[in-house]
Amino acid sequence: MGYNFLVTGATGFIGTVLVDYLKKRNDKVRVLLRPESDVGKVSSMQVEVCRARYDDPESLRNALQGIDIVIHLAGVTKSIDEKGFYEGNVLPVKELMQVIREVNPGLQRFVLVSSLAAAGPADNPDPGIGEEAIPKPVSIYGKSKLEAEKICLSGKGAPSVTIVRPPAVYGPGDKDVLQFLQLLKKGLVVAAGDIGVQRLSLVYVDDLVRGIVMAAESLAGVGQTYFITSPKGYSWDELSSAAARELGVENVRKISLPKPLMRFLGHMAGFISSITGRAGFLSRDKVTEMVQDYWVCSPDKAKRRLGFTASVSLEEGMRSTIAWYKEQGWL
Ligand SMILES: NC(=O)c1ccc[n+]([C@@H]2O[C@H](COP(=O)([O-])OP(=O)(O)OC[C@H]3O[C@@H](n4cnc5c(N)ncnc54)[C@H](OP(=O)(O)O)[C@@H]3O)[C@@H](O)[C@H]2O)c1
Repeated sequence: MGYNFLVTGATGFIGTVLVDYLKKRNDKVRVLLRPESDVGKVSSMQVEVCRARYDDPESLRNALQGIDIVIHLAGVTKSIDEKGFYEGNVLPVKELMQVIREVNPGLQRFVLVSSLAAAGPADNPDPGIGEEAIPKPVSIYGKSKLEAEKICLSGKGAPSVTIVRPPAVYGPGDKDVLQFLQLLKKGLVVAAGDIGVQRLSLVYVDDLVRGIVMAAESLAGVGQTYFITSPKGYSWDELSSAAARELGVENVRKISLPKPLMRFLGHMAGFISSITGRAGFLSRDKVTEMVQDYWVCSPDKAKRRLGFTASVSLEEGMRSTIAWYKEQGWL
């Protein structure tokens, strides 16, 4: 007998892969959709759909009724202002925790999908930041994710909670590595900051959802935080060689954009967003993240305590991501 899962953020990049994974295991899955969510995105998933508003406890009660495990993926990675991050990343967690305490205190597990951004960058790329490090988020996004973590782990009568912090996630369905690959196809690798120094942890989306579910179901997950990540932090050289082979690119020119220039571009992008009201690819907040040297987190704790190791190599992951972009006609 499988568990009864409630998944939020099911219409998103990671959510669609997670729901597919759970359905293939024959788990019962209910998805919580906001009134404005596009139900078309989950129509082929054969899941129970529950419409709810995070500021409406009654609708949340209905969504949580009879659930064993909640995986809270819904969130905002881009916003034009702090309010957007707070409303997308903090408020829903606050409301969900409150209603869970009232109607489902025996909930087996509440998994918050947070982010490496909540911990902040590492001082050293090998092995990268660990879960026990004092969090030092550098972006508003990271601060909002950290605040959500604190809400989950505090308070009386809190349900059993697990925090999963992924680094950058990639795979079919993601759009964030598209620009990197489009430039690489033209023989260019462009980094904000020192291209020779920077290192980056990544996780392929299939590995991440497997890790989330392992953490959700393991007793070793109770009250714990885990990075679910690649075995190491990759250099731009390693990233570009893994993808260049697939793209048939032989010669690559590397360009480091100086940090002051990036900060200026972030400032300009923020100004444009404040006029259009739309969050773009670049913002002051994103630039603050992009110019850091080591977005690297250690896979050690998840390996030791959950038995999780990423199984998709960087080459395989890039191959399927590129294949998907080609199918979409984007590469
Ligand atoms: N992608 C990454 O590289 C990455 C890395 C680390 C952590 N994460 C975390 O993983 C989670 C999922 O990421 P993703 O890449 O799958 O994101 P995504 O594709 O942008 O999907 C976001 C999901 O959150 C919902 N959502 C958007 N705005 C919301 C709001 N204001 N209030 C409540 N729900 C909202 C969306 O539902 P609607 O259909 O209702 O809009 C959608 O289902 C996020 O919490 C993110 O912080 C992602």
